Amino acid sequence: MNETAKNLLDWYDTNRRDLPWRAAPGTKPEPYHVWLSEIMLQQTTVATVKGYFEKFLKRWPTVEALANAKQEDVLQEWAGLGYYARARNLHKCAQEVAHSMKGEFPSTEVALKNLPGIGDYTGAAIAAIAFDEPAAVVDGNVERVVSRLFRVSEALPGAKKTIKTHTAAITPDKRPGDFAQAMMDLGSAICTPKAPKCLLCPIRVSCAAHAHFDMERFPIKAPKKKKPIRRAISFWLEHDGHLLLERRPQKGLLGGMPGLFSTPWEERAEFPSKEEWLQHRPSEDFWKPVEGKAKHTFTHFHLETQLLAAKSDTKLNIENGFWHPIDELADVGLPTVFCKIAALKT
Ligand code: ADE
Repeated sequence: MNETAKNLLDWYDTNRRDLPWRAAPGTKPEPYHVWLSEIMLQQTTVATVKGYFEKFLKRWPTVEALANAKQEDVLQEWAGLGYYARARNLHKCAQEVAHSMKGEFPSTEVALKNLPGIGDYTGAAIAAIAFDEPAAVVDGNVERVVSRLFRVSEALPGAKKTIKTHTAAITPDKRPGDFAQAMMDLGSAICTPKAPKCLLCPIRVSCAAHAHFDMERFPIKAPKKKKPIRRAISFWLEHDGHLLLERRPQKGLLGGMPGLFSTPWEERAEFPSKEEWLQHRPSEDFWKPVEGKAKHTFTHFHLETQLLAAKSDTKLNIENGFWHPIDELADVGLPTVFCKIAALKT
C-alpha cells in the first residue's frame, strides 16, 4: 500500500468519526444504510444529515419498506434537506432495488450508476464503502485534500478530472471505503478551507502544498457567477383554521413538494404589480399585504417573496390545491423557502 494511504488509515483507526451510518470497525456495512446516507450527504452537512438519517431508518428500516412508501411521505420526511430531486430519485431507486434486484444493491460502481440518483460521486462512494471496490471517491472535502497534496494548478470545476486521477492513484486496494471516509474526515477536521491544521496532519510529508507552505491557495476555483434575483408574491388563503396549499408539479424545482400558491418566480427588478398578481391569485377574496419579505437562495438564483393574505368563506376546491390545518403546518413537510414565507404570517 502507498505511504499516503497507510499513514491516513493509521490515523483513521484512532480518529474516525463515529457516525450513525458507519459500521463498527471490522464489521460489514449495510448497503442500504450506506446508500441512504451518501444520497443525503451530497450537498448537505454531516450535522444536518444525522437526524434525517435516523428518522428515515426508523420509519423505513429496509429498502423494501422505503420502496413501498408513498412518495408524498418520503418527500415529507425529506423536507428541509433541499434538492428535492434527490428524494424523488431515492424513492425510485428503492423501488428498482426492491422490485427488480430482490432487495440487493449492485456491488460495482458501474452497475450502481445505472440506478436513479446515483452519479459519479455516490456510485464510487457506495462501491467503496459498502462493497470494498477501490473506486476513487471525490467529494468537496476530498477535492480540497487532493488539490493540496498534488498542488493542482487547474481551477475547479475544470480540475475535477485531474483530481479524480490523483485520487485513484492513492486509493488502496485494501480498505478503500475506510480510505475514502478517512479523506473526508481529514478534510473536515484538519485539512480545512482556512487555517488547515497541518501540524496534526498524518499525510503532511506527502503534501506538495505543505512543502511550499501555500495550502490555502488550493483548491483554485474559477470565479463564481453572480446569482440573479427573482421576485414573486405568494398567497396565504385561510378558511376555518386551514391554509390553502399547492402540491407542486412533479417536474421542475421543488417537484412534488407542497407550497403556497405564488406568482411565477421571475428575474425582475420589482415585485409583481397588482395588475399582475391579480391574474395568479387562487381566489377572488380581499387580499391584504403582509409586512416584510422572505429571502431564500437556490443553486442558481436568489428569491425574494412578498406575501398577501386573505380569508375565504368556503373551502374552495382548486386544482392541485389542498387544505391543511394551520396549527399542524410543521407536519406537512414544507420546503425551507415556504417555511420562511409562511413565517411572515405567523
Ligand atoms: N460525506 C459524504 N459521505 C461521507 C461519509 N461517509 N462520512 C463522512 N462524511 C461524508
